[in-house]
Amino acid sequence: MNVPKLTMRRPDDFHVHLRDGWTLKQVLPATAEVFARALVMPNTTPPILNASDAIRYRSEILGECGKGGFTPLMTIQITDATVPETVRTASQAGVVAGKLYPVGVTTNSENGATDIKALYQVFGEMERAGMVLCLHGEEPGEFCLERESYFLDALEGLAGSFPRLRIVLEHLSSEEAVETVLALPETVAATITAHHLVLTLDDVIGGKLQPHHFCKPLPKTPADRAALIEAAISGNPKFFFGSDSAPHRIPTKECADGAAGVFSAPTALPVLAGVFEHEDALDRFEAFVSGHGARFYGLSPNEGAITLERRPWKGRLRYCGEYVPFMAGKPIDWRVAG
Ligand code: NCD
Ligand code: ZN
Repeated sequence: MNVPKLTMRRPDDFHVHLRDGWTLKQVLPATAEVFARALVMPNTTPPILNASDAIRYRSEILGECGKGGFTPLMTIQITDATVPETVRTASQAGVVAGKLYPVGVTTNSENGATDIKALYQVFGEMERAGMVLCLHGEEPGEFCLERESYFLDALEGLAGSFPRLRIVLEHLSSEEAVETVLALPETVAATITAHHLVLTLDDVIGGKLQPHHFCKPLPKTPADRAALIEAAISGNPKFFFGSDSAPHRIPTKECADGAAGVFSAPTALPVLAGVFEHEDALDRFEAFVSGHGARFYGLSPNEGAITLERRPWKGRLRYCGEYVPFMAGKPIDWRVAG
């Protein structure tokens, strides 16, 4: 039988949680075997706050991935304690982005920023240094389904005040956010996950509770999901892939106060291929996962290729015995060959 194949430039993941220590050892292969580069989020415990943290974390990651040709792109967390000098030294050390979490909005963000305006000198330094500002775009304290919407004013304020600062609104989850990003200048882009293209809130709480679909920002309405799909397949370079793969061990997800995060690294690329195929947009898939993000970050395109095959399978129920990957037990049409 002739199996349809898709060969393309090796992709990048512009938003991933690799954790550290034992978890890093376990989850890194799922990312490093597929993606040439990944932007590694800083919300470890303790967090990555400055150049020396990032240098140490980078060598920990590289120490785990051997000679596979995987490049971690490092970030620091922007907190109330960040000063312009932190940004300068981090940028000199090769840190490509600063990630801002508003306080308390997601996993490990208790030390997040309490006042965005108070950080304007820091953003000015990021603009000068050419460091990208990555935003977890949710406003603390608002109703959970409206937190992203309430954050969009702050995004518009930042884009207006820092016209040369590159800003990424991470893991878009709503039609309103898509429209806002489209209306802002080309310095403002957004990542889209695989799971926000597949899930709605019904898949989290509409039937029985699905803790492995629980993530921030919450998947929203079918109309929101449709707008995200349209943005992802549009070919517009403002939209590119960031998995937001966020592993938590099973007891941390399946409990009374479960952690937010979908562990999608093992399945995200095949799932995305299925979404693009369903929309008859496979011709724009490579640009979404291997083109737009690299260009926005000023990186050269990856060398080498990856092949996906259309050979349907069922997502594995467990990863390393300790994590439930996205689409566990569900049909997935594509797989990474090799
Ligand atoms: C992420 C995590 O677990 O670190 N969780 C999530 O629900 N997405 C943090 C984040 O990106 O919000
Ligand atoms: Zn994340």
